[in-house]
Amino acid sequence: MSAPEAQPILSSPTEAAIYLGLNTIRSLALSVGIFSQYDQKICKSFSLDALSRHSWTTGLMARRVAQTERQAAKTIEQCFLAGMLHDVGQLVLASELQEEYAAVIARAKTENLPVWRVEEEFFGATHADVGAYLLALWGLPNIIIEAVALHHQPARCAVARFSPAVAVHAADVFAHEFAGTNTEVPPPQLDAAYLTTLGLAGNIGTWRADCREAMEN
Ligand SMILES: [Fe+2]
Ligand SMILES: [Fe+2]
Repeated sequence: MSAPEAQPILSSPTEAAIYLGLNTIRSLALSVGIFSQYDQKICKSFSLDALSRHSWTTGLMARRVAQTERQAAKTIEQCFLAGMLHDVGQLVLASELQEEYAAVIARAKTENLPVWRVEEEFFGATHADVGAYLLALWGLPNIIIEAVALHHQPARCAVARFSPAVAVHAADVFAHEFAGTNTEVPPPQLDAAYLTTLGLAGNIGTWRADCREAMEN
C-alpha cells in the first residue's frame, strides 16, 4: 500500500481565500494556485506567462498606488490581491472556450479594439465580469470583486472615491506601459475624466513615478 500523498496546507484557491485572509504571502499562494490550475489547457494564442507577469506587476503597482494615497494597511493589501487577480477571467475564458477566445484575441488585434469589448460581443460578458463572478463564488470580499469587475470601467463604482477598483485600474494601465506586457491589445487607457471627478487627476504623475520606481527596485 502506497503512502498517502502529503496534503498541501491549502487544497484550493477557494480555501485560501476563505480561510487565510489578505496578507502578502497568502495572496501569493492564492495566485500561484490559480495559475497552475490552468497550465495545461490554455488556448494557443494566449500566453499564461505574460498574464502571470502582468498580474504580479499590476498587484505590486496597485499596492504602491494605495501606499502613495496613504490608505489603511487593509486597503493596501486588498489592492495587491485585486491587482493580482484582476484578469483571472481571461484564464477562464482562454481555457474553457479555447477556440472562441483565440478568435476574440485575433479580432481585438486586427481591429485594434480593447479585448474586453470584443469579449462582450462574443460572450455577452467580459473577462472582468467572469473573473468577478468566479471570485464571488469563492467568497472573496465585495471590495475585491468590485475592483476586478470594474478594472476597465472604474467610473461604474457605486461610490465615487478612491478604492481598490481605482488603484487596479491605474496599475493595469501602468503595467502595460512599463512592462510592455501584451495581455490586452490595444493596451488599456486611464479614465482621466473619472480620476478628475474624484479629485485624483493631479496625483496620476506621482502614482506613475512611484510605480516606475517600485518596478525598478
Ligand atoms: Fe483586464
Ligand atoms: Fe490587465
